[in-house]
Amino acid sequence: MKARVFSGVQPSGNLHIGNYLGALKSWVKIQYDYECIYCIVDLHAITVPQEPAELRKKIRETAALFLASGIDPKHSIVMVQSSVPEHAELSWMLTCVTPVGWLQRMTQFKAKSEAQETVGDGLLQYPVLMAADILLYQAAIVPVGDDQSQHLELTRDVAQRFNSLYGETFVVPETHLPTVGARIMGLDDPEAKMSKSAPGSGHAIALLDPPDVIRKKIMRATTDSKPAVEFGALGAGVQNLLGIFQAFSEWSDDQMQSHFDGMRYGDLKKQVAQMVVEKLAPLQQRYREITEEAGYIDGVLAEGAARVEPIARSTVNLVKQRMGLYTQS
Ligand code: TYM
Repeated sequence: MKARVFSGVQPSGNLHIGNYLGALKSWVKIQYDYECIYCIVDLHAITVPQEPAELRKKIRETAALFLASGIDPKHSIVMVQSSVPEHAELSWMLTCVTPVGWLQRMTQFKAKSEAQETVGDGLLQYPVLMAADILLYQAAIVPVGDDQSQHLELTRDVAQRFNSLYGETFVVPETHLPTVGARIMGLDDPEAKMSKSAPGSGHAIALLDPPDVIRKKIMRATTDSKPAVEFGALGAGVQNLLGIFQAFSEWSDDQMQSHFDGMRYGDLKKQVAQMVVEKLAPLQQRYREITEEAGYIDGVLAEGAARVEPIARSTVNLVKQRMGLYTQS
């Protein structure tokens, strides 16, 4: 039997090249080597305020972007978190074995809670729900970008703690990070991670940005006071642009260095923009085709939920038995 893979994306804001290079691109690459479940995590999205009509739209848009990126729904499972109630059910059970101190230490919790006037309890529980997503399917591998590493460590800790309290129950998952593109930074601020929620039109390249917008954003990207690329002393902005090019092109380090060393920043930016435009064109074309077909996405999502439901039910039943909760004998 093939090992199982699970990963997810929040349907909040516009998916950007960081999401693609950090996660979706690896998902596509490994999909025939494993049994893959790719999830639109709408329950995670509501840990901060969302406009309901907008959220509803973004869930389908995110699913369409999974498929447009190359996820094959005949093979991989594409599903929405809230359509399988066992995610929330297992999350509660895991909450009861997770020390609150582990959650308060999470850097994303600290950053996100600082930005909110009132902090919903969901924001604190967020990583437990994420652990539930993964453990529910006994996933062995979780392909994510670098910003999720701490949450994955917590998932492993929760699985190990549960296993030691109640006996071997969960597979302890491995984190799978891409070698290049695990952490794409903002174009306007190369010290900050590229993020769906960051304001500013020059910050992120959305997967559906038209070519002229992509070019404009890259030409305006922050670099430094030097005129040209110097591989021995790369500033954060230039390093980020080179990282974007390398992740899309899959060039080796040697190829990158011999091609770009000494190149003036203006030319570097033109070449990065051209690479991004070329690589996103087929994705954008597929997106248009997928979304033209009424009802197609809903069909894929319904089938995905039906395919995972038996796995989810069997894990929750096992956990209920282990913890002594009521089950009909
Ligand atoms: P989310 O929606 O913030 O991001 C989705 C994926 O994109 C990656 N990513 C990045 N990679 C490189 N550079 C960036 N600037 C960048 N920004 C985002 C993320 O690492 C992620 O892989 N909590 C998760 C969603 C989630 C999940 C899960 C993931 C919920 N349950 C279970 C894996 C397994 C999140 O908010 O991702």
